[in-house]
Amino acid sequence: MGKYDFDTPVNRRGTDSLKWDVAENELPMWVADMDFQTAPEIRNAIADRLAHGVFGYADLTPEWYAAYQNWWDKRHGLKIEKEWLIFSTGVIPSLSSIVRKLTTPNEKVIIQTPVYNIFFNSIVNNGCRPLESPLHYENGEYSMDFEDLEKKMADPQASLMILCNPHNPVGKIWDKDSLAKVGELAKKYGVTVVSDEIHCDITVPGKSYIPFASVSDTCKDISITCIAPTKAFNIAGMQTSAVVVPNPFLRHKVWRALNTDEVAEPNSFAQVVTEAAFNEGGEWLDEMREYVFDNRRIAEEFIAKEIPSIKAVSGEATYLMWLDISGLGKSSDEVAKAIRKETGLYVTEGLEYGETGRYFLRMNVACTKETLKDGLNRLKEGVLKL
Ligand SMILES: Cc1ncc(COP(=O)(O)O)c(C=O)c1O
Repeated sequence: MGKYDFDTPVNRRGTDSLKWDVAENELPMWVADMDFQTAPEIRNAIADRLAHGVFGYADLTPEWYAAYQNWWDKRHGLKIEKEWLIFSTGVIPSLSSIVRKLTTPNEKVIIQTPVYNIFFNSIVNNGCRPLESPLHYENGEYSMDFEDLEKKMADPQASLMILCNPHNPVGKIWDKDSLAKVGELAKKYGVTVVSDEIHCDITVPGKSYIPFASVSDTCKDISITCIAPTKAFNIAGMQTSAVVVPNPFLRHKVWRALNTDEVAEPNSFAQVVTEAAFNEGGEWLDEMREYVFDNRRIAEEFIAKEIPSIKAVSGEATYLMWLDISGLGKSSDEVAKAIRKETGLYVTEGLEYGETGRYFLRMNVACTKETLKDGLNRLKEGVLKL
């Protein structure tokens, strides 16, 4: 028994939750937030700030910078210098802003698909075109296709790449060699890499991710990294994140971009939750990882035994299960809709993450064991009724 409770359900219905705004009989296991309350250390910090009662314009203090610096130094082996850090209200606001600033209309932005669907929006909504370099999928394992990636990088219309590290939805922690190769190719072809590392703290216990900027001087020099406490500590609604840009020329551009788009200023709680998370939340995070990866194990075993027509891709990061449904012979949009209609289970169709996700479903297992059991039974029922 740990110090923290992940088993007691929290009723999220009627709380303006995007995820839980569903019919009474439905069970949402789609959007990437967790059903757990955030760490008590963070709740206490919010309560203290709330008690103050004045919520005028906020400003960042040295403690905000130190919280990120210490966490990345201790947990991820990356020494971030204070001046590399820029506040942003979120990773997606940063990505959109960076795309707009660093490209001209109709240029191409490289993404490795299947990938987080909102990358497509950040690219298209800002006048560019996604240039997909599909990940290689073989024997249930994903890897980067460097031959293809080099071709895409060599396209003179491609000047930016958005890397997902670790990768949502396939749950992959990229290894050092792969990241180094991305850096070398990017340097060779003049491509800037934006590394989205929002899922980096949700890794299988005992294993950490590798920050792109930590891999080599090249990776450091050609990259922009987006980080945040929001995914790991379930505080996405607080809208707080940071961008790390070691290269001073690139940094100036990013700083201008975020300021022009007015996403570089914190609300009254943005700094409070960041400090509480990184300074006091480590123990909670480690227990949460144990719980979530136990959920992943339970789900994998259940699926292998009870629903052999589908296969769970084993991931070492994120609380998002990536389910290979190619054995069902039906497209994920059809399967997800049918499962929802028959059982109320709401999972995401893989097609959302690009054409390469057509025969996959994504299922969020950051929930209590009771909810997980309910979800898995519904999944089984839904698949059997197809
Ligand atoms: C890879 C990735 N990036 C960014 C986000 C969202 O970031 P933010 O809420 O900070 O805009 C998500 C949310 O699921 C995500 O999975």
